[in-house]
Amino acid sequence: MTEFIFPEDFAWGAATASYQIEGAYQEDGKGESIWDRFTHSRGNIVNNDTGDVACDHYHRYREDVVLMKELGLNSYRFSIAWPRILPDGKGRVEQKGLDFYKRLLDALLEVEIKPLVTLYHWDLPQKLQEKGGWENRDTVKYFNEYVQLMYRELGDFVPRWVPHNEPFVVAFSGNFLAEHAPGYQDLGKAIQVAHNLLLSHGMAVKGFRESGLNGEIGITLDLNHVYAASDSESDRLARNYCDAFNNRWFLDPIFKGKYPEILMNLYQEELNKIEIEDKDMDIISQEIDFLGINYYSRAVVSYDEDSFFKYKQLAPQKSEYTAMDWEIYPEGLYDLLKRLNRDYTSKPLYITENGAAFDDQLTEDGKVYDKNRIKYLEKHIKAAHKAIRDGVPLKGYYLWSLMDNFEWAYGYSKRFGIIYIDYENKQRRILKDSARWYQELIAQNGLKDL
Ligand code: BGC
Repeated sequence: MTEFIFPEDFAWGAATASYQIEGAYQEDGKGESIWDRFTHSRGNIVNNDTGDVACDHYHRYREDVVLMKELGLNSYRFSIAWPRILPDGKGRVEQKGLDFYKRLLDALLEVEIKPLVTLYHWDLPQKLQEKGGWENRDTVKYFNEYVQLMYRELGDFVPRWVPHNEPFVVAFSGNFLAEHAPGYQDLGKAIQVAHNLLLSHGMAVKGFRESGLNGEIGITLDLNHVYAASDSESDRLARNYCDAFNNRWFLDPIFKGKYPEILMNLYQEELNKIEIEDKDMDIISQEIDFLGINYYSRAVVSYDEDSFFKYKQLAPQKSEYTAMDWEIYPEGLYDLLKRLNRDYTSKPLYITENGAAFDDQLTEDGKVYDKNRIKYLEKHIKAAHKAIRDGVPLKGYYLWSLMDNFEWAYGYSKRFGIIYIDYENKQRRILKDSARWYQELIAQNGLKDL
């Protein structure tokens, strides 16, 4: 029998995000977010879906916490919607919004589930977007005020904070690829947004230290391990470009206090126009307590002279893919963890998201037999175990996602949950086979292969 048993204090969790699950989009004084605005404009989202109701978690959080407990999670990662707390992004505080998160935290702590709180999972108050959003340096200041307020109000109940989730996606999917809110296609804007996000991350860390709170603070990055399609010099160069674009543009400032040169050259024209102050890099590279990693797939690239970024991504033929058309490649998680530990930090690492969308079917007997998801999870958890065995200080795993939810540009057409949401049928929650499987895994703190 082979065993994959994890360290005793390992965090087994699941993750969600406010806009993707809460619904109640204009209840209890909540202000409009850029995702409300983006989804309400037709044509942006598959089926014109919106997060207006989503999983109605805002009203059903108690039921959801009971399910978390049933699964045996010892931690839960969720995000706070900034416009619930500060409807205009700044100034007036909405007590009812604050109370919701206090009730949620109470419910979690009552059943001994440790919260990991994300402060920004993409739902910027629309009022701030109207003043330029993250492109405007003032947003950094307002974010800092919001973050300080959260430390003061919730600091005693939150052991672990992640001010930002995936700044790459916020900056580039939202401002360069136009796939996400606010929906621009402007490289200069994306680079400025990326810088301001990083700066606001650094300020959040600095403020946290000054607050004297006991918890820990980090950041969550979406990282792809990048492989060259061949050993040729040009393909290796392509790999370096892709790696710099996806990973190093965020890793290097945080851990090394500078942007990677290979892209500085490519971005020269844009960088000349954007606002970066001398002291910014020092603020950005504040020491953090842990790094959160969202891993879904890898990238295989070859050189492409005609593309601005000098690479094109390939889809390896023999591989299996999820419903998102993302290649299933668990070895990439191992390679990534080793690389981060080797090249960037010896601090604790957390997998803050990992999971897969598949075309789940709810059968007539009320079950979801999602074997493919179990297979995906099992392979990735084994890769994580191997990394720990080989010395990587990996401290926790958060499955994406606790429940099916609003998958951004794909709306409800993609299901990532281990809990099935029957949207049409009173939002019934149904544990998929993968949920039962995860429950057992947590109970034995790992896997046992016969
Ligand atoms: C995000 C989630 C998203 C998931 C699957 C991550 O990029 O943090 O919000 O649903 O990946 O696409």
